[in-house]
Amino acid sequence: MTLQGTTTLVVGGSSGIGLATALAVQLQGGHVLLAGRDQERLRAAQFRLNAEGNEVHIFSVDVTAEPDVRDLLLLLPRFDHLVSTAGAGWSGQISSVHTHAARAAFDGKFWSKVFLAKYAASKLPTGGSITFVSGTLGERPAGGAGITSAANAAVNALVKTLALELAPLRVNAVSPGLIATEAYASMTAEARDAMYQRAAATLPVGRVGRPEDVAQVITMLMLNPFVTGSVVSVNGGATL
Ligand SMILES: NC(=O)c1ccc[n+]([C@@H]2O[C@H](COP(=O)([O-])OP(=O)(O)OC[C@H]3O[C@@H](n4cnc5c(N)ncnc54)[C@H](OP(=O)(O)O)[C@@H]3O)[C@@H](O)[C@H]2O)c1
Repeated sequence: MTLQGTTTLVVGGSSGIGLATALAVQLQGGHVLLAGRDQERLRAAQFRLNAEGNEVHIFSVDVTAEPDVRDLLLLLPRFDHLVSTAGAGWSGQISSVHTHAARAAFDGKFWSKVFLAKYAASKLPTGGSITFVSGTLGERPAGGAGITSAANAAVNALVKTLALELAPLRVNAVSPGLIATEAYASMTAEARDAMYQRAAATLPVGRVGRPEDVAQVITMLMLNPFVTGSVVSVNGGATL
């Protein structure tokens, strides 16, 4: 079974795990629709993907805005699989939580996926799938990351309910550990490398993740007809 001839909407496909997923889908002969907020990043990803395979269409949307998600999904033709990697964490102690920023992080990580599932379900065929990306903090907490932990855990719970409500559509989550992506682009190279090295030293696999490590599992979940309501950890052993 391959993705040959199928179409996948990758929300967050302009960067990191989403872009790696789009490339993996293309490698298996699938068509890709890319969504994200920033047009320039989308165009750069489109350019790269067009050079590798089928023509890619891009859509600029902020998936935290329910009307925008609804409008995008009304506009799109039917597709076979939905993947969303959109969202980012929020760091800080609960005792001094910056409520506005923390709510925004929850919107990006959790509510965006509620909106996507709500409006995408009718576009997806019986054999289709939804795969959402959560994160290790949803399984194993860390001080100063309570909002991110809660948002990731909420995504993990959401896919289980969606797997029941949207059946026979399959709905799963992938929970990545530390993955070297553009998400850390605002750090200096030195600080980033030091963080990766510290993390790698604690992991049984001895390295941090690559976006391709996660993309491989996402495409497996898209293809395997007997997996639904699952949360698959891709974390190099971080939760052991
Ligand atoms: N990298 C890690 O170490 C790690 C670890 C655990 C969990 N995760 C989770 O994995 C997911 C992907 O991470 P990544 O490292 O691949 O991040 P990334 O490289 O920063 O990519 C995030 C993608 O999502 C898009 N996006 C973000 N907010 C959006 C919004 N509101 N509407 C539409 N698109 C949006 C971004 O494009 P625009 O900014 O242009 O919109 C970008 O394409 C995130 O949910 C992250 O929390 C990552």
